[in-house]
Amino acid sequence: MSKPLTGVIIGAGHRSLLYASHALRHPDELTIVAVADPDPVRRQVAAEKYGLAPEQCYETAEQLAARPRFADVAINGTMDRQHVPTSLPLLEAGYDILLEKPISPTRDELLTLLAKVRETGRTLCIGHVLRYAPFYVAVKERLAAGEIGQLLSVHTHEMVSYHHMATAFVRGKWRRQDTSAPILLAKCCHDLDLLAWFCSGNAPQRVASFGSLSFFRPEAAPPGAGTRCLTDCPIEPTCDYSAHKHFIEMGLWRAYAWEPIEYLGDPTLEQKLESLRTDNPYGRCVWHCDNDVVDHQSVLVEFADGVTATHDLATGTSRPCRHVHLRGTHGELEGTMEDGRFVVRHHDVRKGSEYREELVDLSVSRDMHGGGDYRLVADFVRVVRGETPSLSSTNIMDSVNGHLIAYAADDALQTRRVVELATV
Ligand SMILES: NC(=O)c1ccc[n+]([C@@H]2O[C@H](COP(=O)([O-])OP(=O)(O)OC[C@H]3O[C@@H](n4cnc5c(N)ncnc54)[C@H](O)[C@@H]3O)[C@@H](O)[C@H]2O)c1
Repeated sequence: MSKPLTGVIIGAGHRSLLYASHALRHPDELTIVAVADPDPVRRQVAAEKYGLAPEQCYETAEQLAARPRFADVAINGTMDRQHVPTSLPLLEAGYDILLEKPISPTRDELLTLLAKVRETGRTLCIGHVLRYAPFYVAVKERLAAGEIGQLLSVHTHEMVSYHHMATAFVRGKWRRQDTSAPILLAKCCHDLDLLAWFCSGNAPQRVASFGSLSFFRPEAAPPGAGTRCLTDCPIEPTCDYSAHKHFIEMGLWRAYAWEPIEYLGDPTLEQKLESLRTDNPYGRCVWHCDNDVVDHQSVLVEFADGVTATHDLATGTSRPCRHVHLRGTHGELEGTMEDGRFVVRHHDVRKGSEYREELVDLSVSRDMHGGGDYRLVADFVRVVRGETPSLSSTNIMDSVNGHLIAYAADDALQTRRVVELATV
């Protein structure tokens, strides 16, 4: 049996620690040997979890990468705008990288990283966890087996729930393009990646898009709404977006909501209430934040071989879910990931019939992106070890293509035109 890979954690935040936990469940596959994070509390939490000595803790990725390479892989879960600046020196130093999505908020930066990957020959695996969810793996297997014939068109639809939208994209870290990325990249790069993966090896050529920020803006606030739920809002008791309801009563999105006071360790109820009343960004009224990402967007794509694809982002929905519909020359496939089921349909031209339908029922975990988060790390380990990867690990160009669609869609949305994509 081969030795476990050694890995370093870059950015000891929520995502990196989730991926790095593979080392705790599978010590025979991965050992964590260092952490880099400018936040001393987070650095310490990671150090304790993985038994790291002070000399194994670095303040930044750049400092760690400046040393001769001392581990096999880097798990980079920094925030969107740090992905490329932190990954370039790591690639130079010789690390294979598991990098969180989106690769970068800008096309130029993504191309710089792609050039570095080609130059160094290192492995760069992107955190496209949905490709590893059993639901999408089964969809891809049916497609690859030719069960619906040659693919003609694809539709994906992501519905981001009211509480998820309000937390992440109105009050939270992904609310602004200048500090994070357009929502299509931040949220739907999974879905656009699925489009590219379904059409693997086939470049997107033309993109159109429409969308806007219509609801989560001051003009749409209900009469009487205040600026902070627990401070000056008389309608809080009847508001679906009450911070008190979401974060205290329902206990949702703990990792994000209590991030501003995570240095307290295990904050009390009174400390949480005080935080929401005062400076916690998650205590703000959803109609009075400084958010600028759109709250609905539709994208239309044409691939080189004529396959067409559409993606709809709907937010503020009651039910969070992802729907997919693939149409081929000899059938169609349709399902919703959160149901854990899809159907494969074929024509049935007998009298009294119209079509026949096979129900594919998967037992799918509802969290961790349908079970994809952990499978992604396991596959990354296999790829780096030179073992046969799963159907989900493909050429980096599929990941790049999904991102190129996102950049082009935002360009199309801003300029109100159809954008032609150049070959990269
Ligand atoms: N795959 C998914 O489905 C999914 C889900 C949520 C978030 N994400 C993405 O994961 C990424 C991380 O999100 P998060 O919520 O875990 O972030 P986070 O803010 O919890 O963690 C990022 C960490 O990076 C550290 N950091 C900043 N600069 C650094 C540097 N130069 N060197 C080392 N560390 C540095 C920060 O101090 C912070 O602790 C984001 O890009 C986000 O878009 C992906």
